[in-house]
Parts: sequence; structure tokens; C-alpha cells
Amino acid sequence: MPRPRLPLLLLLPVTVTVTVLLLLIPSSRPPPPPHSPIPCGAAPSDATAGRWVPTPPPLPPPLYTPSCPFHRNAWNCLRNGRPPVAALSWAPARCGGGVVPRVDPAAFLAGARGRRIGLVGDSLSENLVVALLCALRAGDAGARKWKRRGAWRGGYFPREDVVVAYHRAVLLAKYTWQPVENSKLQKDGIKGTYRVDVDIPSDDWVNITKFYDVLIFNTGHWWGLDKFPRETPLVFYKGGKPIEPPLSIFDGLKVVLKSMASYIESEVPGKTLKLWRTQSPRHFDGGEWDHNGSCVSHRLLEEHELDSWFDPRFNGVNKEARLVNSAIQEALVDTDIQLLNLTYMSEFRADAHPAIWLGKKDAVAVWGQDCMHWCLPGVPDTWVDILAARISHYFKQGDG
Ligand SMILES: *[C@@H]1O[C@H](CO)[C@@H](O)[C@H](O)[C@H]1NC(C)=O
Ligand SMILES: *[C@@H]1O[C@H](CO)[C@@H](O)[C@H](O)[C@H]1NC(C)=O
Ligand SMILES: *[C@@H]1O[C@H](CO)[C@@H](O)[C@H](O)[C@H]1NC(C)=O
Repeated sequence: MPRPRLPLLLLLPVTVTVTVLLLLIPSSRPPPPPHSPIPCGAAPSDATAGRWVPTPPPLPPPLYTPSCPFHRNAWNCLRNGRPPVAALSWAPARCGGGVVPRVDPAAFLAGARGRRIGLVGDSLSENLVVALLCALRAGDAGARKWKRRGAWRGGYFPREDVVVAYHRAVLLAKYTWQPVENSKLQKDGIKGTYRVDVDIPSDDWVNITKFYDVLIFNTGHWWGLDKFPRETPLVFYKGGKPIEPPLSIFDGLKVVLKSMASYIESEVPGKTLKLWRTQSPRHFDGGEWDHNGSCVSHRLLEEHELDSWFDPRFNGVNKEARLVNSAIQEALVDTDIQLLNLTYMSEFRADAHPAIWLGKKDAVAVWGQDCMHWCLPGVPDTWVDILAARISHYFKQGDG
């Protein structure tokens, strides 16, 4: 059958015209950057806009079990008899219905070959590092514990020569106990003070700023009266002298955040990926931890409930996360430290704390429920997936 040639011939003048027109347009715009799509989870906005959905089938096998040697007992909820946390995935708005994929431990380690990843901060950083260590162990059966250079907890992954470690520094700044001397009059029942040197990082991390290729900081959960009550308050020093007039605990936090951020800016090399993890929300329902506050629940919060739980305007039990975050945000302006904003996605998850399943008989009677840390497996695994996506993308781009 002869091909119909006529329509093609008719199109020819059009093509020529378009080509001529294109040539006539002045090429003032620079060429577009090479195509490098950001994987789902790796963009900063992926954590801050999205929703929880049931993990799409088929359910991937768990990366770790209650026997992972990196566990901390109090968060090993399955071993402590808690029913499993619901299998949910985070679907960032940017990912067109897709969910953040579970970290591929072997691929992550290969991409991080020869690198070191350090976390510095309070027990919420430890909660995250335990999830990361247990997940990565699935990619290297030779993984072993690693606790050097002042690390409180860590792992070494020999196949790809990767270190992941946590340095405990609950206030980030150095703080020391100063008892009130017996000879002195004990004013207002004060037993002693904790001296915080706002301009000196704590010993646990002061000398590791050049050791790691990725550093993730946090502080926030100790800046309250339950850790530092009126009889043993924080007193802030700068340049070796007490700050006058004395700062409130929240103003002290602001000063410490600013000065730690500037220490990081000046001491951590430019090529190191610097992240600052925002505050992890607590879910004490019906009262503080020492007033029978509870989180024995399997229900996620709804979007419209979040403000009433967390907005400081409503003065609820769990308001401190957003308050601390506002101070963090302010302190990081004009630095090259990037936010790792995990607060919003975690606010929904009232269902995923250890609550009464703490693994010790009297723990709840003494400490109340734990509605602050998270069960493992659980929410920190999604933090790990997001963090791993972000780190892998950074290494792949050759920035690190
Ligand atoms: C974190 O993300 C949430 C949700 O987008 C946002 O409301 C909040 O302001 C962010 N926090 C910081 C410190 O950027
Ligand atoms: C950190 O390094 C300095 C300089 O080498 C040293 O004087 C100091 O003792 C070290 N501090 C700690 C806590 O290791
Ligand atoms: C907590 O609950 C127990 C048992 O219902 C009660 O005896 C106790 O007074 C409560 N404690 C507080 C601080 O509300």
C-alpha cells in the first residue's frame, strides 16, 4: 500500500517556520541544570508536608527484630510486650502518592563508603541512632559496636568502612554541678546549681567536629523544670562570668543555640553535611508525666487536632516542641546548618510511644508513662528513611 505522503509534505512548512521562530528568540536564559531528580524523602519539604498511609503491600520484611544488639531496653517495645506499632508509611505531598521508601541498608552503606556519620544531642538523638544502627546492620552482618572518641553509643560497618555514632550532650553546651557550700546560707532551698557555659561545647563533642562527614545535632528535651527544678537550677555563664541579669531557662536555651550554631559554623568543615533535628513532640494526654499523663492509645491524631495539642497558644501539656522549634529556627538563620524538621510528621503519632511497656516492673510507678521516646520498630524508622535518603543524595551529588 502506498504511504500517504501528502500530510507530511504539508507539515514541512510548519516545521521550518517553528525552527526559524525558535532561532529568532534571543537565548537570554541559561541552559537548564542537568536532570537530577531528588528522590522521595530527600527534599527538606518531604518531611514537612505529607500524611501517614498504610504501608503499601507487599509489606517489606522488618529490617530488625527485638534481638538487634543495638537496642536500648526501654524502647524495645516488642520485647516489653507492647502490641506492634501500626505499619504506616509517610507519603510526602511532593511524591505524587508515593511513600518514602524503606532504607536499603546495603546500598546506603555502599554509597557512604569510608564515611562517618555522627549524632550529637539528647536521648531523642539516641532513639534515632538506635533505629539507624539496627536498620544498617541488615546490610552488613559484620556490624559491631563502636564507642571511641567520646561516643556514648555507635556501630562500625566493616564491609564499607562506615561509622555511625551518637555523642550524648543533652544541653550541647558544657554544664557542671556546683553544690552550695555548707558554710553558705542556703537561699530559697537551693541545693546547688548547674553552671552552663553557653560558649563552651560539652567535652563529649568539642573535639569531633572534623571527624565526621555528616553531623546531626539536637537539644531540647532537658530544657525544663522536670530536669532542672528550682532547687537545682541552671545558671548561665559566658566568657567565664555569670550572665547578668540571670537568664530564664528558655532565654538560656536561645543563647546556647546561637552560640553552638556559631561554633559549628566555625569549626565544622564546609563540606560536612550539617543537620539540626527539630524537637520531637510528646503525647501526654490528661496530665504531665508525673500527673498520670497517658499515651496508651492506638489512634493517630487528626490534622485538625494538632494545634490544640501543640500550639503554645493553648498552653497544653505538650506545647514545648513548637516553642523549642521557634528558638531553633531563629538560631539557624544565616548559617549553613540545615533543618531536619521531623516534628510535624511525628505530631500525628500519639499511638507510637512506649507508654507503659518499659521493660521494668516499677518504671511506670516511678517515672510515669513514657510518652516522649518512641517504640522501635516505629516512628524513628521513618525518620531513618528520610535521613538516609537525604544523606545518600548529598553524597551522590558529590558535595560531601
Ligand atoms: C516544621 O514543619 C512544620 C510543618 O510544615 C512547620 O509548621 C514548622 O514551622 C516547621 N518548623 C520549623 C522549625 O521550621
Ligand atoms: C580537645 O582538644 C584540645 C586541643 O587538643 C585539648 O586541649 C582538650 O583537652 C580536648 N578536650 C577534650 C574533652 O577532649
Ligand atoms: C494517679 O492515679 C492514681 C491512681 O488512680 C492516683 O492514686 C494518683 O493520685 C494520681 N496521681 C496524680 C499526681 O494525679
